[in-house]
Amino acid sequence: MASHIYTTPCIIASLSCFLLLLSSFSQCQAQMSPTFYNKTCPNALKIIRTTVNQAISRDRRMAASLVRLHFHDCFVQGCDASILLDSTPVIEGEKDALPNNASARGYDVIEAAKREIEKSCPGVVSCADILTVAARDAVVSAGGPSWAVNLGRRDSTMAYHAKAGTDLPSPYSDLDTLITAFAKKGLSKRDLVALSGAHTLGQTQCFLFRYRIYNHTDVDPDFANTRKRQCPEQQIGDKNLSPLDLVTPYVFDNNYYKNLMQKKGLLQSDQNLFNGGVTDSIVSEYAKSPEAFNTDFVSAMIKLSEIQPLIDGHGIIRKVCSAVN
Ligand code: HEM
Ligand SMILES: *[C@@H]1O[C@H](CO)[C@@H](O)[C@H](O)[C@H]1NC(C)=O
Ligand SMILES: *[C@@H]1O[C@H](CO)[C@@H](O)[C@H](O)[C@H]1NC(C)=O
Ligand SMILES: *[C@@H]1O[C@H](CO)[C@@H](O)[C@H](O)[C@H]1NC(C)=O
Repeated sequence: MASHIYTTPCIIASLSCFLLLLSSFSQCQAQMSPTFYNKTCPNALKIIRTTVNQAISRDRRMAASLVRLHFHDCFVQGCDASILLDSTPVIEGEKDALPNNASARGYDVIEAAKREIEKSCPGVVSCADILTVAARDAVVSAGGPSWAVNLGRRDSTMAYHAKAGTDLPSPYSDLDTLITAFAKKGLSKRDLVALSGAHTLGQTQCFLFRYRIYNHTDVDPDFANTRKRQCPEQQIGDKNLSPLDLVTPYVFDNNYYKNLMQKKGLLQSDQNLFNGGVTDSIVSEYAKSPEAFNTDFVSAMIKLSEIQPLIDGHGIIRKVCSAVN
């Protein structure tokens, strides 16, 4: 851990951690905090916000893409920027894993923010923190709620290609599978439903919802017909994009839940949250109350962003986000 980031309380914390080491390693965690870079890189948050807002003004979809990139980082071995590593002869990149390849985007935006931050404070701010803050700023830019992000995550020296294949949920998952996948990450049913509300933003490729609009019965027929125009039944147009929330695709709001209650979820995994199962009542609650949705979304995003962070000297601060130092 870089010694210049220590403050007096941290040294005390480290000493008590050392004493605790034999009995309980898990208590040895440095505190993450929203002011982690106040002294060492006071402009970091501003640089991230500016970079994110510029990227979104060039490409409106980027808000969605950054939120998803952060989710796909955190669900695979924690929020450690492992998703940002390029493949090398010794690293099999998560970006090449099935759920991410030709799908996840926004890597360049995080790299651009990192490059800018390195100019003023080299070697201080982690890519994992940049991605976490960028996701928050993206939600805000789309009109969603804001919150303070705890900082102090460090970056992995590895990628976890196989885990990306197993831990990221598939759009064909049934409700029990979704609940179990989120529970494995310490996230509740409410967290699952609230976080899925991120699908108020962004786009999805035809091949991922084709089966649903052609062959399922739990879909609004007019909605399915409209979607069929952009997504032919034959194996053409696989990559054609459709908004996950057809009503307000670029606004962070609770229309996603209203859609589900009308059988207008685009992915089968979306509709499975409102299909006569245990999460129906949560979907109705968020459809009625944007405030309840916003409050729960924020608390779930904070939980998501604090899955297995590399702290306390674990991991590194990468110089560039796409490679280990
Ligand atoms: C509950 C399980 C989830 C499943 C099965 C799922 C699946 C998917 C799929 C298949 C896509 C479209 C990818 C493509 O067409 O290339 C997508 C897009 C997206 N997902 Fe999820 N997702 C889930 C949860 C989440 C969560 C928790 C978040 C964030 C908190 C999230 C944020 C997004 C966003 C914003 C997009 C649009 C991305 C863009 O337009 O670039 N998803 N998701
Ligand atoms: C850290 O910086 C932020 C933003 O500049 C400021 O609002 C906050 O008061 C600072 N906190 C501390 C503890 O210095
Ligand atoms: C990633 O997607 C591209 C474009 O669809 C494809 O050509 C390539 O083979 C895929 N790579 C992997 C590792 O699946
Ligand atoms: C829908 O089901 C029919 C009959 O089983 C099948 O021929 C067709 O390929 C399916 N369509 C899609 C898009 O999966």
